[in-house]
Amino acid sequence: MAKSKTSYVCNDCGAEHSRWQGQCNACQAWNTITEVRLDTAVNARSARFSGYAGNTQSKVQTLEQISLDELPRLGSGYQELDRVLGGGIVPGSAILIGGNPGAGKSTLLLQVMCGLANQMGALYVTGEESLQQVAMRASRLGLPTDKLKMLSETSVETICDIAKQEQPKIMVIDSIQVVHVADIQSAPGSVAQVRESAAFLTRFAKQFGVAIFLVGHVTKDGSLAGPKVLEHCIDCSILLDGSTDSRFRTMRSHKNRFGAVNELGVFAMTGKGLKEVTNPSAIFLSRDDEESPGSVVLVIWEGTRPLLVELQALVDYSQMPNPRRIAVGLEQNRLAMLLAVLHRHGGLQMSDQDVFANVVGGVKVAETASDLALLVAMVSSFKNQALGHNLVVFGEVGLAGEIRPVPSGQERLNEAFKHGFTRAIVPMGNVPKTIPKGMEIIGVKKLSQAIEAIF
Ligand code: TYD
Ligand code: MG
Repeated sequence: MAKSKTSYVCNDCGAEHSRWQGQCNACQAWNTITEVRLDTAVNARSARFSGYAGNTQSKVQTLEQISLDELPRLGSGYQELDRVLGGGIVPGSAILIGGNPGAGKSTLLLQVMCGLANQMGALYVTGEESLQQVAMRASRLGLPTDKLKMLSETSVETICDIAKQEQPKIMVIDSIQVVHVADIQSAPGSVAQVRESAAFLTRFAKQFGVAIFLVGHVTKDGSLAGPKVLEHCIDCSILLDGSTDSRFRTMRSHKNRFGAVNELGVFAMTGKGLKEVTNPSAIFLSRDDEESPGSVVLVIWEGTRPLLVELQALVDYSQMPNPRRIAVGLEQNRLAMLLAVLHRHGGLQMSDQDVFANVVGGVKVAETASDLALLVAMVSSFKNQALGHNLVVFGEVGLAGEIRPVPSGQERLNEAFKHGFTRAIVPMGNVPKTIPKGMEIIGVKKLSQAIEAIF
């Protein structure tokens, strides 16, 4: 009989322990450690699929000898998805798509797969929905249904055996939480099952050159179930985000072996499935005609493109001994820092005021280029003076009250001009040599200059 190996794995974070204990050392959670039996048979079979052991010749080469021909990428048919993937799907890669239930993971992948099935073998494995449900959705969305192969199965071994016969170039596993490998005792969805299933499928992808999309559900705290256990074995991890009460879904990669991780893709959920939003600036700027104090438009940089977002601040006299400072979509600490800068270098005291700041549309801004815009919004609300409709602001603010340039200033200004903004307050270092005709660009070096220029 094959000898079996025992391991103790935390169900929350996936950390391994040599013996059972009440609390996990890694994530401090109680009663989450379970015993997992790893049969040597699994390991043996895993080795059979191993792309490293079986498939490649063990030959030592210098870097120079290695062929630099880039793997041709497959276009998914959706520019937004391709951008997030770093230019398309890399053959033989394993891509994890995470998101809350209802985010649109299944819908998006169904749309992608129906499109790709015309050009290459495509297999959609569904373990969550029945085949009828998927077929009904496809026909309701008007997708081509004649080429995509469907399979309803949850055993990873069977899936791989069938995939070996069908030889698809692209596969979807919906979802990683319902599939299981036979030799592991724990239930589907547990860390041990998710980890082994993902590792098994990833090895399969590498060995047979099949690109695999794994759908993963997000737990309540926003992390993918068993994130740490999955992230090391997959090539790319994408999160599809968006509350169900908003039409818009944003897509971002958290790990990508084949591209940058800070790209943003934007989709809209419509009655006819997910549609790409190619001009996201337009949707995050839902501005009405009335000018309101405390509201300012800012140009942020998302991966490789600029995005216009609206930032709002409300400054109001506080009834509390400790006035509130609340930032939504922005960093709380930066807000506190900027208030101090405003006091010291802008001469405005807000210590008896509540300050609320918000980025419209649920966008999260982590860039320092938002500093100047946030300050301007706060001053505008404090003074109860609206800023003109046509004004955009960006720039980093230093602790000495200096305004520092930010990357890609020219592109940000072009984007603003394209959307009809004709006045910009930007760091002096970002003032371009050639200014678009009809645009007024005011370069500032100090916070006081910026405040003077506007108010
Ligand atoms: P789904 O792809 O099933 O989400 P996930 O697989 O991420 O859990 O998306 C389901 C949601 O999308 C559901 O709340 C209904 C909505 N939806 C539309 O609004 N329009 C559509 O055309 C489709 C297919 C879904
Ligand atoms: Mg689904």
